[in-house]
Amino acid sequence: MEAEIKQIVESVKLSIAKAKDLASLTEVVVKSTGRKSRLTEILRSISELNPDERRQVGFLANEAKVEIERLAGEKQTELEIKRAESMHRDVTLPGIKPAVGHLSPITIVMRELIKVLAELGFEIAEGPEAELELYNFDLLNIPAEHPARDEWDTFWLKQGSDSRHNVLLRTHTSPVQIRYMLDNKPPIRIISPGRTFRYEAEDATHAAVFSQMEGLMVDKNLSVANLKAVITYFVKRVLGDEKIVRFRPSFFPFTEPSFEVDVWFNGKWLELMGCGMVSPQVLRNVGIDPKIYSGFAFGVGIERLTMLKYNISDIRLFLNGDPRFANQF
Ligand code: DAH
Repeated sequence: MEAEIKQIVESVKLSIAKAKDLASLTEVVVKSTGRKSRLTEILRSISELNPDERRQVGFLANEAKVEIERLAGEKQTELEIKRAESMHRDVTLPGIKPAVGHLSPITIVMRELIKVLAELGFEIAEGPEAELELYNFDLLNIPAEHPARDEWDTFWLKQGSDSRHNVLLRTHTSPVQIRYMLDNKPPIRIISPGRTFRYEAEDATHAAVFSQMEGLMVDKNLSVANLKAVITYFVKRVLGDEKIVRFRPSFFPFTEPSFEVDVWFNGKWLELMGCGMVSPQVLRNVGIDPKIYSGFAFGVGIERLTMLKYNISDIRLFLNGDPRFANQF
């Protein structure tokens, strides 16, 4: 048996040396030391031998196994180096273009608006999406029980003791006006882009999650003329100089007078945003004297503007995550 073990090692040594690739090497190792190999058979039958033989044969068979594994390991390293060396890099092959992401059309339009209004001296101000009822409604001159609240279907997040503690998902970006005016003195010139939320049944023109950009300017001697000039300018810059813009009397609790801005589009007037002169009551609410200062504000729906600009028919496309939609812009 001892002679047989020696002979096995010799023949395996030869086979390992002859192995041309990793697959044939693995085959040699499995055949010589695997479960069905002669070596394993010998190790299994050891218990049938007498104690002296058992020790001797056991020692040799184990040693043979270790030796085979050592040789196979060396050979494996050698083959791997050879394989790596044989893989040339062909620098003339065309490269693989990485798939890069794409800006949403909402972001594209938002950035364009920000750029145009920044040129006019407006700075960006931000507020939280989870907002206090106080800022989203009360200080904007929409107290509880005011019928105007019906226009804003609201997701309530937390019920507190009063409107300073009740938390909701902001229904518009207008609360940023309040936050900013509480913290800053006029002159004020801000825009506030961001997400807004309404508890709404969704259809082609209504989404529960959408985006707005608020604008606010407060200074001495501001009038509707300034409001009209700024809004007409940026609408034309974004939608095209040839577009006709109209200001239609409307109502918002936080502005007096209030207007809707319409754009003539494909033979129809389309409503684009609300705006107006900041209500004296709102100015008083944030500690600004309406006898000295006046201001104008606007709130533009970004999806609506983007749909007009790119001729998109369904607002639900913006959030459905389909790259066939997003990649068109
Ligand atoms: N917050 C209004 C809305 O979501 C839009 C709006 C109207 C904002 C008039 C204003 C404004 O700042 O002056 O419907």
